[in-house]
Parts: sequence; C-alpha cells; structure tokens
Amino acid sequence: MKFLHVVGARPNFMKAAPVYRALAGRGHEQVLVHTGQHYDALMSDVFFKTLEIPNPDESLNVGSGSHAQQTASIMSRFEPVVLARQPDVVLVYGDVNSTVAAALVCSKLGIRVAHVEAGLRSRDRSMPEEINRLVTDQLSDMLFTPSVDGDENLAREGIQEAKVFLVGNVMIDTLIRFLPSADERYAKLKSELSLDSFGLVTLHRPSNVDDEASFLPMLAVLDELSHEIPLIFPVHPRTRQKWASHLERCNPNLRTIEPLGYLEFLALQKNAKVVVTDSGGIQEETTYLGTPCLTLRENTERPITVTLGTNVLIGRDWVLLRKHFHEAINGGHKVAGGIPLWDGKASERIADILAK
Ligand code: UD1
Repeated sequence: MKFLHVVGARPNFMKAAPVYRALAGRGHEQVLVHTGQHYDALMSDVFFKTLEIPNPDESLNVGSGSHAQQTASIMSRFEPVVLARQPDVVLVYGDVNSTVAAALVCSKLGIRVAHVEAGLRSRDRSMPEEINRLVTDQLSDMLFTPSVDGDENLAREGIQEAKVFLVGNVMIDTLIRFLPSADERYAKLKSELSLDSFGLVTLHRPSNVDDEASFLPMLAVLDELSHEIPLIFPVHPRTRQKWASHLERCNPNLRTIEPLGYLEFLALQKNAKVVVTDSGGIQEETTYLGTPCLTLRENTERPITVTLGTNVLIGRDWVLLRKHFHEAINGGHKVAGGIPLWDGKASERIADILAK
C-alpha cells in the first residue's frame, strides 16, 4: 500500500516519526509532505535529524500567515501533490492548520484520510486547534485515538464506531524510544546551562501571548517565582517576536533561551522540579515522566492527564499557581498513574490496522 504523511508544525514531527517507521518496517511505500507551516531550523529541521525522519519528498513552503491564508495556501499547494502521488491513505496528525487543510483536500478528492490523535476535545471553540480537531475528525475515514475519552467524544458527535480505533499515544512512542538518548544528553546540558534544581516554562498559545493584558501579568508571576528556583524558558518564535524587549528585562533567574531540540527538551522535562506550560503535548509528556505540570489554560483537550496524570489546570489563577508551584518544588505534588496504551506501541497498532 502507499501512504502519504502530512506534517507541518513542530508537534507533528514526533507523532509522524514512529508511524512512518512502523509502516516502513512492514515494507509499505511512503511519501512525506512537509507543508512548511513551521520553517525555522530550530522549529523543524533539527527534529527531522534527531527523530530520524527522512527528508520530505515534497515541501510546500507555505510559511506564516493568518489562519485563512495559511490554511488556503496549504490546500492549494497540497492538492496537485496528492493528485500526482495517488496514495491509498493520507495520514494527518494532531490539530494544527496543516492537519485540517490536508484532510479537507483529501475528503473532496475521495482519498481516504486517517487522523492520528483523533477525538481530543477542549470544548473551547475560541482555540483554533479545537476547530481543526472537530473538522478533521468529521472528515476522516479512520480515527486513531490516544485515550478512551477520545472515543467517547467521537461517539457523542455521531462518528461511526467502526471508524474509530483506540491505539494509544504515538507521541509517547517517540518519548520512550528517545529517552535513553535524552538521558545521555542531560549531563552535557546540565553543565552548559549550570543546572541544579530548576523549573521549565513554555508559552505560545494565542490566548496567553497575543495581548498585553494576558501576557504581562503572567510574565510578572513567572519572574517572581524564578527567585525561588531558576526557570528555563525556551521561547517560541511567536512569543519572542511579540515580547523580545520585555523578556530581556526579566531577572536573570528567568532564563529565556532559543527553542531547544527534542532530546534537550525531553531531558529538561524529565529533570525539572516543575513544568509551567500552555502546550498540549507537554501535558502528556510530563504525565508519562511523572513531572508536575501546571497548565496555564482554563481547559484541556487532554483531561486524562489531569485525572490520571500529573497535570493541574491553573488558568490565570496566580494564587493557585503559587500554591502548586511551591508544592511541586518541595516534592508534594500529585503522582501519576499509568495511562492505558501509552506503552510505546501505538504506532505498531496503527500500522497493523492500516494494513488491514
Ligand atoms: C502552531 C499550531 C499550534 C501548535 C504550535 C506548536 C495552529 C493553528 N497552531 O502554532 O497548535 O501548538 O504550532 O508550535 O496550527 N514562526 C516563526 N518561525 C516558524 C514558525 C512560526 O517565526 O518556524 C512565527 C511566525 O511569526 C508565525 C507565528 O510564529 O506567524 C505563529 O506560527 P503559526 O504556525 O501560525 O502558529 P504557532 O503559534 O506556531
């Protein structure tokens, strides 16, 4: 069979890598299309190298733009590629604009779409990713869910049970595979960054970083908390672009650095006393690693990381943030139970199902 994978933004790469590998292991023909939604070397190229993903067969080079511009540009550039390549199935990942754009093109052309990481819902339609999830799942022919809440959400939306497959979390497949290399990398990183006890911060959601009224109070609290333990803050280009001068004025314990590679970031997540984030994937990775995660969002599309994992939803409640931060750095945080099927074998299950 011939499979075509569509990737575009940083969180897609660690999801596609193990599925590509599992299908390659079964001898299928594969095509990799990179839309170019993320294009900086630190947001894209380094991940291909580290995760051992082959170079893309097709690069659409769409770059940045408004949601409509970016989505439309991916659609118009992707359509001739998928028509020329004639895959049996197109695989799309996660919830970024590249995901929904490719799914929409394929569904109109009658090409089968498989969505990896289907069924997640925050029920917050002000998040662009929630719109992408809803539309992609409606259009997909096969929906691979990471956890049982995904199946429940899809059933509620009237999606036929026969199309839905609970397979587990492909991002955890990648984590498990690369954790030994991340551990090796940690010793070097520890001396480079002079790390002892530290916390880790990431922020890039539009709702947190686009306006002054949202971002500056958040930055002020982080600046305050970094007096207790140093906070390493690899800054997403979206956040850097908007707030470079404010970030430079923070106290030196709030250590703003360039985006990190996969192994380096994984090593920091594992060894941090606490992670403060608004990312989706990091809520999952910290849960697997047992690191306390304080999420600066009002809701999550990954509620299982709250019920079974180490995640706590903080929203914008700075009293709650201080409380959980102190608990975490003093070792009094909640402990994770294992999440079913987050076992490193989700991609193998996907490859088996696709082959049928
Ligand atoms: C996108 C995804 C988000 C995901 C995030 C991970 C959508 C709607 N959003 O958000 O779900 O969590 O990726 O990083 O698909 N930029 C650069 N260099 C790059 C890429 C982006 O400088 O390589 C800057 C550009 O100014 C761009 C901005 O970052 O306008 C935002 O990029 P965009 O791809 O639109 O969304 P993200 O915030 O990265």
